[in-house]
Amino acid sequence: MGEDMAVVIDGKKISQDVRDEIREKTLRLRKERGIVPGLAVVLVGDDPASQIYVRGKKNACREVGFLSKEFRLPSDTSEKKLLDVIDGLNRDREIHGFLVQLPVPEHIRTDAIIEAIDPRKDVDGFHPYNVGRLFSGNPYHRSCTPAGIMELLDRYEIEIKGKEAVIVGRSNIVGKPLTLMLLERHATVTVCHTRTRDLAEVTRRAEILVAAAGNPGMISGDMIRGGAVVIDVGINRLETGKLVGDVVFADACKKASYITPVPGGVGPMTIAILLRNTLAAASVLLPG
Ligand code: GUN
Repeated sequence: MGEDMAVVIDGKKISQDVRDEIREKTLRLRKERGIVPGLAVVLVGDDPASQIYVRGKKNACREVGFLSKEFRLPSDTSEKKLLDVIDGLNRDREIHGFLVQLPVPEHIRTDAIIEAIDPRKDVDGFHPYNVGRLFSGNPYHRSCTPAGIMELLDRYEIEIKGKEAVIVGRSNIVGKPLTLMLLERHATVTVCHTRTRDLAEVTRRAEILVAAAGNPGMISGDMIRGGAVVIDVGINRLETGKLVGDVVFADACKKASYITPVPGGVGPMTIAILLRNTLAAASVLLPG
């Protein structure tokens, strides 16, 4: 790539564009069918990062004209009590989508919680029904962060078909669903993880490289193929308080054709897709 520097993908702007589109569609839905999309967020305990995410989701709802409800439960809430709250939200006709902010306290089984959510209201796309629909190539609600990555690639008109894509990280929230989304779009996908023998040898083959390992600075410039599209999903807070991704940004800029920054890349897309999933859920359910 010589001295060319990468195009920095503006996730903040794309997220705003998506939210502007959602606001317009929400206004139309209300005018034409009397439906106000409703999103509820359940937070158990007082994890500081979760509190920030939940506040962000509430503000985003207000901005696009959704109804938002918030349930804050103490950290000693029983699993049974949480299941009761979920049952109430499954039945709540004002609520079209909801999520339980993860992680939940250790005495609560995450799987039991996710499986209790009505899949039609599972706007996080975590329920086995939604995972299965994605797996079989007929997605319903898609997991927000990987769907946000696909949106960024599409809005920057980055071709996916036939490309060598390498994902570092195999989480249920990002790595695995993104694998399926890229596969559906005809990429050749390789997934790396902690037991991958020669990580750099694999990442250097990537035309689209996605770092979703949660390991600050693990992807150095020499691990990136010239001209690659680099998507950094890492959000790591250093001891200094600085927020960094999994990619060494300054070095990667000299090798990549496109790159997402941290913050301001993938992160802002997650909430935009959450709102879009909620709007979709509200649009199919009957009003009132
Ligand atoms: N915790 C961190 N990210 C997420 C998310 O996307 N959804 C939920 N429910 N919890 C999270």
